[in-house]
Amino acid sequence: MSKVTVIGAGNVGATCVNALAFKEVADEVVVLDVKEGISEGKAIDMSQTAQLLEFDTTVVGCTNDYAKTAGSDVIVITSGIPRKPGMTREELIGVNAGIVKNVAGNALKHSPNAILVVISNPMDTMTYLALKSLGLPKNRIIGMGGALDSSRFKYYLSQALGCNANEVEGIVIGGHGDTTMIPLVRLAAYKGIRVTELLSKEKLEEVVKATMTGGATLTGLLGTSAWYAPGAAGALVVESIIHNRRKLIPCSAALEGEYGESDICIGVPVIVGKNGIEKIVDLNLNAEEKALFAKSAAAVRTTNAVLKEINVL
Ligand SMILES: NC(=O)c1ccc[n+]([C@@H]2O[C@H](COP(=O)([O-])OP(=O)(O)OC[C@H]3O[C@@H](n4cnc5c(N)ncnc54)[C@H](O)[C@@H]3O)[C@@H](O)[C@H]2O)c1
Repeated sequence: MSKVTVIGAGNVGATCVNALAFKEVADEVVVLDVKEGISEGKAIDMSQTAQLLEFDTTVVGCTNDYAKTAGSDVIVITSGIPRKPGMTREELIGVNAGIVKNVAGNALKHSPNAILVVISNPMDTMTYLALKSLGLPKNRIIGMGGALDSSRFKYYLSQALGCNANEVEGIVIGGHGDTTMIPLVRLAAYKGIRVTELLSKEKLEEVVKATMTGGATLTGLLGTSAWYAPGAAGALVVESIIHNRRKLIPCSAALEGEYGESDICIGVPVIVGKNGIEKIVDLNLNAEEKALFAKSAAAVRTTNAVLKEINVL
């Protein structure tokens, strides 16, 4: 039997649970929240869509009852506060660091072999906090950010090309932040044709800018951060783990020399399978991309340093 726990039944958590159930990724999905009743309510509501959408996954909600999460194969962490218009993801660290450390520790007591997927922001720093504080091997800690950013990149590329987004390839590496992510234009393609041959330099610059500020644009429109694509991106990572799909997904991973960096979790292309991070794929970055990656890593490190200042690490 496969079992997934999602901590946090808010916008992202509930959407992720919904995608996992609808796609029948696991036999059972447990959703846990600290707010009384919300996870139970959402779980019952979703269960009542099972006959309508024709899925068999059992969805269970619980208020802070970690015993119900026992034996999970994957634990997804979405608990914490989202950003409001004008805020950066990094500004959430003070509140979210304590929550992430606490919920991850509680969940792992009941599922000691689980793979952790961290979504709460600032995601690269929350992933690093999990790596440094939980004592898990690095392959079992995955930060979800690049899956979402890459999906936004492909969306904006498809808009510029006037084509189906499913026919576009593109990956975003680096930190999951408005100024730290790196959409890899050089490697993006439409049906195998490099987008650099199809779109002007100016158009591609617009696509990159729209991708990098994609989250902020939605936060401005919605008044809070987005949830449909983030929840679906979380479910994509979980699916690749549970079904050992070995998909190549840009994720925040602990680096030990790869991409010239160590002692950091940051977005790189990884193969995601039953052991979590099966492999970090080393792209042959050019000098310009290498410089952007080093700059991005420096920014992530600056945020990581706050963990010590606020005494969570
Ligand atoms: N990594 C990404 O790509 C990405 C994308 C979007 C959002 N996010 C982040 O995901 C997080 C969740 O966003 P959201 O829009 O779902 O927020 P939300 O406010 O809708 O939901 C968060 C939920 O966490 C719960 N929670 C808080 N403390 C808890 C605790 N100790 N135990 C259990 N549950 C607890 C809250 O009660 C709430 O229901 C935010 O930090 C947001 O910035 C990340």
